[in-house]
Amino acid sequence: MLTGKTISVFKRYSLQLVLAIFLLKIGNGEEITFKNVTVSWWKDNTDQTIFGTADNLKKIIPSEEEMYVGVSGYIPVLYEQSVYEIPNLKSLHLENVSLKAIKPGAFGNLSVLQYLVLSDNNLTEIKSGTFTNLNLSEIDLRMNSINSLQTGAFKNVTLKYLRLNNNKLSEFPSNVFENVTLTGLHLYENHIHTIAPNAFSTVSMDSLNLFYNQIEKLDPEAFTNSELRTLILNYNRVKLLRAGDLKNLPQLKRLSLKNNNLTEIPEGVFNNTKITDLELHHNKIARIASKAFNDMSGLRGLNIAFNKLTSWDNGWLDGSSQLSVFRASFNQIAEIPDEAFKNYPRLYYLALQENKIAKLSVKAFRKLGYVEYLSLNSNEIVSWRKDMLVNVSVGTLDLRMNKLKCIEGDLDQVFGSVIDGVYLSNNPWSEGCAIKVEEFLKKKNQDV
Ligand SMILES: *[C@@H]1O[C@H](CO)[C@@H](O)[C@H](O)[C@H]1NC(C)=O
Ligand SMILES: *[C@@H]1O[C@H](CO)[C@@H](O)[C@H](O)[C@H]1NC(C)=O
Ligand SMILES: *[C@@H]1O[C@H](CO)[C@@H](O)[C@H](O)[C@H]1NC(C)=O
Ligand SMILES: *[C@@H]1O[C@H](CO)[C@@H](O)[C@H](O)[C@H]1NC(C)=O
Ligand SMILES: *[C@@H]1O[C@H](CO)[C@@H](O)[C@H](O)[C@H]1NC(C)=O
Ligand SMILES: *[C@@H]1O[C@H](CO)[C@@H](O)[C@H](O)[C@H]1NC(C)=O
Ligand SMILES: *[C@@H]1O[C@H](CO)[C@@H](O)[C@H](O)[C@H]1NC(C)=O
Ligand SMILES: *[C@@H]1O[C@H](CO)[C@@H](O)[C@H](O)[C@H]1NC(C)=O
Ligand SMILES: *[C@@H]1O[C@H](CO)[C@@H](O)[C@H](O)[C@H]1NC(C)=O
Ligand SMILES: *[C@@H]1O[C@H](CO)[C@@H](O)[C@H](O)[C@H]1NC(C)=O
Repeated sequence: MLTGKTISVFKRYSLQLVLAIFLLKIGNGEEITFKNVTVSWWKDNTDQTIFGTADNLKKIIPSEEEMYVGVSGYIPVLYEQSVYEIPNLKSLHLENVSLKAIKPGAFGNLSVLQYLVLSDNNLTEIKSGTFTNLNLSEIDLRMNSINSLQTGAFKNVTLKYLRLNNNKLSEFPSNVFENVTLTGLHLYENHIHTIAPNAFSTVSMDSLNLFYNQIEKLDPEAFTNSELRTLILNYNRVKLLRAGDLKNLPQLKRLSLKNNNLTEIPEGVFNNTKITDLELHHNKIARIASKAFNDMSGLRGLNIAFNKLTSWDNGWLDGSSQLSVFRASFNQIAEIPDEAFKNYPRLYYLALQENKIAKLSVKAFRKLGYVEYLSLNSNEIVSWRKDMLVNVSVGTLDLRMNKLKCIEGDLDQVFGSVIDGVYLSNNPWSEGCAIKVEEFLKKKNQDV
């Protein structure tokens, strides 16, 4: 028999029990990552869509085959194990879902996942252990507001591309990567001015793209990586390069420093590196030390265009005989001396247009063999001697917009070694010479 008292006690307790269960439910509810989200994928040539609510995405998506899944809705937090043990998930797009935080352990046991796209969200921090034990093609974290990367944010990860571009990083700390292998790391369009020592030494990577940041120097302790082949630093603020800056990048092949604040290139920065392509254009370089590019035995392409150079040094590039593409246009070079290109007889493409070349030595091109493209237009050349191209053959020669009044001799002979085309327009030809030039050009360039 229950007395009134016991009934009321029972009622009170059961009420508390219900309340407790209710609160527990709410508590769990807070941890539900996917609340009435729209999950879509492509199957049998049509878009498939379902709505769903679940703590783990696994419970929403069908399980039979390889799934390329997009999720939309409002997903402010990816809780622990919210994308977990989904053996058929090949690609996951969680773009523009107002994501603000990822709890460590959110992702795991995703054996076939290749693309994890988290771009266009509101992440500000990647916590330690967020991306662990993953082997995929790409993690895309572009277009967030990430300003902090914790130690071990990426741990035991094998990736092709890690996209962290267009975020708000101002420093790149050390130990972000633990046992990570990458092809390319994209860090462009952040605000990075400081890179911690060894920030990149714990990641095995091929290319590092840092354009549009605020880097002022190449600190060799920061730029340490035993495998890096491509380093892009365009649109930064590098003012000065020093001997030894590249000593910890032994495999570097391509270095681009376009649009920085360089004013001079001292010697010893690049010597004995494996660099094949060096891009230094669009700086304010007024001086290049005579030995600055010496002993670069792999160098094939050098771009020093759009700088403030006034003179040419025929001693440049001693020991760098493989150079084949040299761009030095848009400077203020006034004179090209004897044997100006003697150290690199394989030169194939030479751009010298838009300088102030008035004096061109008759022996300037000696030692060259075949130059496919030789561009000297928009200079101040007043004379072109008939033996200018002795022993050199040229594909296309551009001499437009100079100050030539006449060229002595038989033009068929003067330009006899030019194979494809000669361009001579916009020169102040004297009356006597204009007809000769016109006739020659008509004949010479008829097939061009
Ligand atoms: C779920 O979302 C769909 C469309 O986004 C909406 O029509 C539906 O009312 C929502 N259901 C709940 C329970 O919020
Ligand atoms: C993000 O989604 C909102 C609507 O949900 C839309 O207005 C906006 O254009 C989207 N932004 C991007 C970058 O896709
Ligand atoms: C990963 O998933 C497989 C199969 O779904 C399971 O056997 C294994 O225990 C899981 N491993 C972990 C670490 O969860
Ligand atoms: C969240 O991110 C979206 C897309 O990047 C952006 O439009 C929005 O302003 C951000 N909101 C906040 C609060 O940062
Ligand atoms: C590293 O990650 C791989 C998956 O890419 C996993 O198979 C392996 O067990 C992980 N190793 C350790 C030490 O956690
Ligand atoms: C990563 O996955 C690829 C196949 O997608 C496989 O060939 C490779 O061995 C894996 N690497 C590691 C370290 O697990
Ligand atoms: C480092 O990563 C490789 C490849 O994913 C894995 O085989 C190895 O176990 C990892 N080592 C440690 C210490 O995590
Ligand atoms: C770098 O050059 C830009 C313009 O070319 C200039 O605005 C900026 O002040 C320079 N920065 C430094 C640090 O010298
Ligand atoms: C070239 O580099 C070596 C180290 O590799 C250095 O000892 C030498 O002084 C450098 N030469 C010049 C001209 O700076
Ligand atoms: C042109 O080449 C020939 C044969 O190699 C050589 O004898 C001659 O001196 C060269 N002429 C000039 C001006 O370099």
